[in-house]
Amino acid sequence: MAQAADLVIFGASGDLAHRKILPSLGHLVAREGQSVRVIGAARSHKSTAEFRTEVKASSGNERLSANAEWVQLDYADPSSFTPLKELVASSPCIIFYLATPPETFSEIVASLAVSGLAKKADATRRIVVEKPLGHNLASAHKLNAELAAAFDEEQIFRIDHYLAKDTVQNVIALRFSNSLFEPVWNRTLIETILITVAEEEGIGKRAGYYDQAGAVRDIIQNHALQLLALITMEPPTTFDADYVRRAKRAALRAMSPIDPSMAVRGQYEGYLEEPGVAPDSRRETYAALRVSIDNWRWDGVPIFLRTGKALPRRVTEVVIKLHDAPMLRIAGRRQRGIPTLIVIRIQPDEGISLRIGAKRPGTRFEMVPAGMRLDYAHLTKTALPDAYENVLSEVLAGGHSAFPGAEEIELSWEIVDPLIRAWESEGHPEVYPVGSWGPRAADDLVATGGGGRWIVSGDEPGTS
Ligand code: BG6
Repeated sequence: MAQAADLVIFGASGDLAHRKILPSLGHLVAREGQSVRVIGAARSHKSTAEFRTEVKASSGNERLSANAEWVQLDYADPSSFTPLKELVASSPCIIFYLATPPETFSEIVASLAVSGLAKKADATRRIVVEKPLGHNLASAHKLNAELAAAFDEEQIFRIDHYLAKDTVQNVIALRFSNSLFEPVWNRTLIETILITVAEEEGIGKRAGYYDQAGAVRDIIQNHALQLLALITMEPPTTFDADYVRRAKRAALRAMSPIDPSMAVRGQYEGYLEEPGVAPDSRRETYAALRVSIDNWRWDGVPIFLRTGKALPRRVTEVVIKLHDAPMLRIAGRRQRGIPTLIVIRIQPDEGISLRIGAKRPGTRFEMVPAGMRLDYAHLTKTALPDAYENVLSEVLAGGHSAFPGAEEIELSWEIVDPLIRAWESEGHPEVYPVGSWGPRAADDLVATGGGGRWIVSGDEPGTS
């Protein structure tokens, strides 16, 4: 059980606090009984009573709202942090959660340091930051340096909420607690890896952020590469955060920067009419790309990632396709086997399935695709906790396994930076219809790159 803590939310009036942090905290506290006091900190004036009403509405939790506090401060002025300092003076553990726009990170971190609220090497002072963690390698490096000046690495929690998804954590269990998979997990038996992070929704009201970011910064640099690192890393020495991070770093280091000629971008039809989008925006809402990992295990295996908004449905999935088995000769006829697929379904319908070839029941010998499936929901009677609940639970407990380290963030920027730069100087991306799977060129990318075609379970015979 985590110790009692003060959770100081900078930007506590904002969307992130009310949509994600407070509701998840409400569930967590109701389920596990953590003793947490929420302190909202922002530039705006608000009475404690007002804030308590907001906390109640967003978290649904009486106990959280009853002792919530509000402090008004100026992020850039350390002397304005004094009331906060007094409020938390006897707290056993203080967590500073920056739920503010990224341009405020530097000043808040500096003010925490100057005011003495951030104490280096004191594990009971923690800082939580959310993406975007930089917009390229240089800015990510600067942010890491600023954080490191005020906090030790053990005190810093960088959120990538994908890492906190139960099914993403299950990748480790699948790979390393079953002796069936690891022996095939390499270039000898795997033909290709295809990762899809598809969303049905458009950008909604997030143009202010998204039109600056685009699909590569929004999903590929963080969620998709973290997922790929877990899928392709070597077995860590132990499964403690430190060793898992080391293993992920080694995998990321072996990935070459994306070759822009091996990538496709698109923009959904109607994007330019979304409120807040620049009328001539060339920002991509879809990206597909090929990654190669130059190490002993993966050399020569083509790996493809794609992500996009306004696609046919929400699905995040890793498909691992094994090499074909040799032809079968039966009764003078040559029969091709059914390629084996290992499908890791991150969301929705979380689970793992294996698509194999089976004999069609009957008098003739004929192959048909058949599926074996683990529904993750069958392992539990309760709903899976939201990723933010896992994130908050781990921050409160001081664990790091759901958080990428500083170097991983920079390595991921190194991988995508050349592509982002190349796209900055290109014309308008191809426009794709809402509800389609994106530009055709993404199919060619996979077909000519040795991946066959994109696969999502459900659309593929033998997968469901
Ligand atoms: C966020 C992105 O990090 O992840 C959003 O900024 C995206 O654009 C979201 O919609 C997807 O998260 P999830 O958990 O719904 O897959």
